[in-house]
Amino acid sequence: MNNVFTQAREAATYIENQGIKEVEVGLILGSGLGELAEEIEDQVVISYKDIPSFPVSTVVGHAGQLVYGTLGGKKVLALQGRFHYYEGYSMDTVTFPVRVMSMLGVQSLIVTNAAGGANTDFQPGDLMMIQDHVNFFGTNPLIGENEEKYGPRFPDMTHPYDVEYQGFIEEAAAELNLSLKKGVYFGFTGPTYETPAEIRMVQTLGGDAVGMSTVPEVIVARHAGIRVAGISCITNLAAGMGAELNHEDVIEVSTKIRSSFKKLVVSLLEKL
Ligand code: HPA
Repeated sequence: MNNVFTQAREAATYIENQGIKEVEVGLILGSGLGELAEEIEDQVVISYKDIPSFPVSTVVGHAGQLVYGTLGGKKVLALQGRFHYYEGYSMDTVTFPVRVMSMLGVQSLIVTNAAGGANTDFQPGDLMMIQDHVNFFGTNPLIGENEEKYGPRFPDMTHPYDVEYQGFIEEAAAELNLSLKKGVYFGFTGPTYETPAEIRMVQTLGGDAVGMSTVPEVIVARHAGIRVAGISCITNLAAGMGAELNHEDVIEVSTKIRSSFKKLVVSLLEKL
């Protein structure tokens, strides 16, 4: 068996041995959004560094732990701090937690991120339901030998973001009286923010938001047949559309939106 899968199996076994046997929903929390994990009840917390083969996150604003428990009536396993390609990790490492979740039996995944708004109707502080994505990483996490046991060689990507789950997000937003934007997420490697010309390209190609994550994890989740819901917090207007960009502002805005973000995720969990 391919090494990544052996390692993911070892990590999953370690997690199961901590009493985490039943996981209904995986939750990946983006920059500044990790605080949602604090709402999880009956928590079991595992530090990444204690899990065999699990990578360790280097980015500011990421806690680096798994939090298991109940949220929105579901047994969730939250990744408080994800791994980014720009940190120098391989695609296998970036997507490792999703493979582990899949081995733990996760069939639904909520991915969240901080993103720049390329759509001129968007404002910092908006929440965007991800309807689709464009992979601008210049690579794909499934390149290499395919492990048929975990998924097909040529996975269908017609519905990267589950249509029924999109309906749940819209329902949840309507019930909470939250204005919800919808759109296409363009994933770039970073760590530079985009140039204004790149943002004009994104706009021309039909993109609404830009970020440095999510796409690899969603590809691996879909390969494993996991159904995905995606929410972006629009933390800033993309390059050339407003002020110059910095990570502190991104964290500040995602911190400000987190109360409505939390409500939306909890309500979505109740509907899954
Ligand atoms: N670009 C890329 N990633 C981001 C941005 C952005 O404007 N904002 C937050 N993450």
